[in-house]
Formats: sequence, C-alpha cells, structure tokens
Amino acid sequence: MTSQNQSSVRITADQRLSGRVALILGAGTSAPGVSIGKACSIAMARAGAMVAALDFHMDAALEVVQEIEQEGGRATAYQADVSDFGQMQRAIDAVISDYGRIDILQINAGIGKVGGPQETSLEDWDRIQKVNVESLLIASKLIIPLMVKQGSGSIIGVSSVAGMRYLGYPHLAYSVTKAAVIHFIRMMAQQYASDGIRANTIVPGLIDTPRIHKNVAKVFDPDADLDKARAARDRQVPIGRMGTAWEIASVATFLASDDASYITGTEIVVDGGLTGKFV
Ligand SMILES: NC(=O)c1ccc[n+]([C@@H]2O[C@H](COP(=O)([O-])OP(=O)(O)OC[C@H]3O[C@@H](n4cnc5c(N)ncnc54)[C@H](O)[C@@H]3O)[C@@H](O)[C@H]2O)c1
Repeated sequence: MTSQNQSSVRITADQRLSGRVALILGAGTSAPGVSIGKACSIAMARAGAMVAALDFHMDAALEVVQEIEQEGGRATAYQADVSDFGQMQRAIDAVISDYGRIDILQINAGIGKVGGPQETSLEDWDRIQKVNVESLLIASKLIIPLMVKQGSGSIIGVSSVAGMRYLGYPHLAYSVTKAAVIHFIRMMAQQYASDGIRANTIVPGLIDTPRIHKNVAKVFDPDADLDKARAARDRQVPIGRMGTAWEIASVATFLASDDASYITGTEIVVDGGLTGKFV
C-alpha cells in the first residue's frame, strides 16, 4: 500500500467520508486532463475516504494516487479490466487485503464508438456491452456479498444523457449500454435496499473531459478542431457551457455519503438543463 504524506495534509472542512473505503472503477484519465473518475477519486479523498483507484491503465491509476497523496490523502492503485471476471476478482481481493472493506463502489469506466447499426460491428458492440454493462454484473457479483456482510454500502453507476435521449448524432452502442446502466442499478437497488445498500446512477450531460477531445470532437466539427467542437457543445446546453468533471464529483461524493441516506434506486441528472430543453 502506498504511504501517507503527513507533511502535506490538505485540510478540508468536509469529512463526510472519513474512514470509508471508496473503490473507483475507471479512476484514471484516457488523455491528459481531469476525467470524471479522477475528479471523483480526488473529491472523495478530500472528503476523507481512502481511495482504491482501479484502471485498465496502471499509469493512469497511479497518477490519481499520486495527486491524492500530494494532498495528504490515502489511496492505492490497482490494475484490471472491468470486463474480466478473473482480473477483477484478483484486484478486489487485493483491495480487501489492503483496506479490509469496500464502502463505496463507483462503476465509472465507459467506452463508446460513434455510429448507428450499419457502422457498428458485432465486435465493437460486444466490447462496448462488456465494458459498459457486464462490468456492473461482475463488480456486483464480487462486491455485493461484502457489502451485505458489512450491512452497508453505496453503489454509484455512471450513465449518460445519451442513455435517455438522442443527442443529434448516432452513438448507438454507447447509448443503449448507458440506458442499461440506469436500469441495472435500479433493479439492484430494490433487491438490496433491506441490506443497507444504496445504489444510484449519475447521468452526466456534456462534460468537458479529455475523452471528448479524442472521440467526440469530430462529430461537432468536421476538422475535429477542438475549440470549435467545444464551442458547439457549449452552445447546446441551456446553462451555456459543458459541465466539469468536478461538477459530477460533487454529486458522487454526496451520493456516497450519509447525506444521501434516503436516496436509492434512482438517477441524478447533471446536465445543465440539457435533457429538459425543447429543441
Ligand atoms: N465526458 C462526457 O461528456 C461524459 C458524459 C456522460 C457520461 N460520461 C461517462 O463518464 C464515464 C467517464 O468518462 P470520462 O469522459 O471521464 O472518460 P475517460 O475515458 O477520460 O476515463 C475513463 C477511464 O476508464 C478507464 N477504462 C476504460 N476501459 C476500461 C476497462 N475495460 N477497465 C478498466 N478501466 C477502463 C480508462 O483507462 C480511463 O482511465 C464514462 O462511463 C462515460 O461514458 C462521460
């Protein structure tokens, strides 16, 4: 386990997650900048949680751990593919051996590919389904028994407004899997409510994270000019701008905490008014 740097303890008034262990799946960033998983990991650490930062890319997970440690928090990096049962079993065994429990599980890793039914290969469909949906089944199988034993736990799914609406371009596999995330979490929340486990989904709108630079820019500007693509995304949102990863992280921290003790089986849409808009 990585060491705690006492000399640079970041003092925050918010210690809502003090003593809790938060496992964030897909805690890294796919390109330089702040992803949703990274912001959620750091925000939960600032609220007192010990963070198990899991990612397919160990470097990305280690970067998050380093930032948390620099602020005086406690975190450890783990490498696994969220869609691989064996890898996840080994990673979760390691988390339990390091921390002894898992209080918060955020299932954040997500991938997509632009296109409709003609442009989406069966291989892409299967891979997106495995990473975005089967990962929930795998994590649930491995972690729910631990939470049941503990008699408590908060599970947070990460969907997308693409799982609720057509966003103006075909993104079929991604959208269908993001709709599935919402319903998976709803079903699980009902089954385990009496065990002290809460499960909710955050539905982010258009968020300015590094992945949009790589994957989505070309949809908004034919030359994939990042500034133009960003401006086009900003214009779509009633609030007038994309959201930040930190604006998702504050909701995740809330859902993870006892402040959300009576909230389960539902979704919180964080989209600057996008899905309520008449176009
Ligand atoms: N950025 C947006 O506008 C937006 C909007 C709505 C929803 N979301 C959702 O939020 C989540 C995070 O998005 P982001 O933009 O911060 O993404 P990101 O691509 O920057 O970060 C995702 C992280 O997940 C990791 N990951 C990917 N596949 C993995 C796998 N199989 N196993 C383990 N780790 C894996 C990546 O290595 C990366 O570090 C995704 O589920 C995404 O669908 C994003």
